[in-house]
Amino acid sequence: VPIANIRNFCIIAHIDHGKSTLADKLLQLTGTIQKREMKEQFLDNMDLERERGITIKLQAARMRYVLESEPYCLNLIDTPGHVDFSYEVSRSLAACEGALLVVDASQGVEAQTLANVYLALENNLEIIPVLNKIDLPGAEPDRVSRDIEEIIGLDCSDAIHCSAKEGIGITDILNAIITRIPPPKDTAGSPLRALIFDSYYDPYKGVIVYFRIVDGTIKKGDRIYFMASGKDYVADEIGVLSPNQLPVNELYSGEVGYISASIRSVADARVGDTITHFRRRAESSLPGYEEARSMVFCGLFPVDADQFPELRDALEKLQLNDAALKFEPESSSAMGFGFRCGFLGLLHMEIVQERLEREYNLTLITTAPSVVYRVNCINGDTIEMLTPKEYIGSLMELGQERRGEFKQMNFITENRASIIYELPLAEMVGDFFDQLKSRSKGYASMEYTFVGYRESELVKLDIHINGEPVEPLATIVHKDKAYAVGRALTQKLKELIPRQMFKLPIQACIGSKVIASESLSAIRKDVLSKCYGGDITRKKKLLKKQAEGKKRMKAIGKVEVPQEAFMAVLRLE
Ligand code: GTP
Repeated sequence: VPIANIRNFCIIAHIDHGKSTLADKLLQLTGTIQKREMKEQFLDNMDLERERGITIKLQAARMRYVLESEPYCLNLIDTPGHVDFSYEVSRSLAACEGALLVVDASQGVEAQTLANVYLALENNLEIIPVLNKIDLPGAEPDRVSRDIEEIIGLDCSDAIHCSAKEGIGITDILNAIITRIPPPKDTAGSPLRALIFDSYYDPYKGVIVYFRIVDGTIKKGDRIYFMASGKDYVADEIGVLSPNQLPVNELYSGEVGYISASIRSVADARVGDTITHFRRRAESSLPGYEEARSMVFCGLFPVDADQFPELRDALEKLQLNDAALKFEPESSSAMGFGFRCGFLGLLHMEIVQERLEREYNLTLITTAPSVVYRVNCINGDTIEMLTPKEYIGSLMELGQERRGEFKQMNFITENRASIIYELPLAEMVGDFFDQLKSRSKGYASMEYTFVGYRESELVKLDIHINGEPVEPLATIVHKDKAYAVGRALTQKLKELIPRQMFKLPIQACIGSKVIASESLSAIRKDVLSKCYGGDITRKKKLLKKQAEGKKRMKAIGKVEVPQEAFMAVLRLE
């Protein structure tokens, strides 16, 4: 189709507001995929994503649609739905001319939606408001429209009412994409500049790069150059996503496609990088490229020390596909050999850990996540919370408890407030989000941005088990909280560590000073003594249970410490 008939768009939505359901309906209605081809939801095609119901990796799909006998090509670029991946979101927005803003008509606008809407506005996207889930009895599309107008200043007089689930309003959405979103600019004659909005590692073809051509054209066999990584390759295969990869010979400005060029690692073709031609290079790269910043760190140790080489191999393989994953070897007398790993955020950390265990069959001990400290300094974050007004009080208490500095509060509508805090990142990596949700009955939402390092009075709290310091249990806390944390942590560890054959002291210390102490009494552990007579299945069950319990134990000296103990510091109440 001519460039005037191309539309590139993405969907902005808060988690659970129905983005994937709507994307599926668009793909079905345009005949891009048949219903029977669909697994649960086509765009979220990693198992892990499906299980968690969230979108992690970006995907794209090209749809054909005819309006008033004109054929159109609509490229949908999916965006990940979690705060940890906001950089990826910003790059996929930059690859589009327009966005559907999907808001659950029974809920309303959430903090994270706002952040993405602002990103879309910065990128000059045409935004089409879509009020989803109008089939729900609790839907209030008019109230939510007013919310959107007040909060974002977006005209909602022709917002589309839809039910992605029931298939209502889908044609209206397709027509709006064509009539309201502008086509790309025709710059096919300029030197090539293509924006990478996703890349993943394929074990057979090497890295597959998804891109949007901003200027110029690209042909199969071209020698291409990545402006940020400085690497060059031959484009072995280029193609479109329909939504499966379909090779073509040439792609022009405005189009979305993929490239395969024997690239070894996604770090060489990172999201945000610009592809140009090796000989006829573009003068400048496209704006917005950023290096990945690790926000959260943790130690990963194999339970079985023999698995260390396998863990290294697995991390290297995952890194081929995840440029944001950082790791370096770490060893400690207590834990043996393992790795210190850096992640974009807590969710990213959990995903990596789960994949290591599931896909690589490793059994790991993870130490509690921590943040970067510089001597006597601490990371600061601003946190914006959006909440119905009745929860303002309890959220401000939460902010205060977590050493936050109150910045400002605005009522964005009569009933909803935005509260901004500057808060140490260390206070947020734990259960801050869970607390926010439980204190607001699930109604509040939040997002955060890194603001820099701050001075603070911190102490290192060591934990001694059986008289020996256990480094992975040590934590950095504010001096005013040291006693309370020390007490709570020793008590929690006493609950979590199984009783041993001997009496076990558990102490919290600052330097050489013991500030809290507990002791675990001895036990003679013989699980089978609980079974009378010969019920063999019950015996087997008990032994199996014990074996499972063992799997996640790490022997530290003579003491078996379970995985939960390493996370105890996050779960103190
Ligand atoms: P993430 O992938 O986590 O960003 O979520 P999402 O925004 O893609 O939401 P998803 O499409 O997975 O929908 C979330 C839930 O809302 C699912 O249980 C859907 O079945 C449901 N849902 C989506 N659209 C509608 C709708 O129009 N009406 C009703 N009643 N439910 C809907």
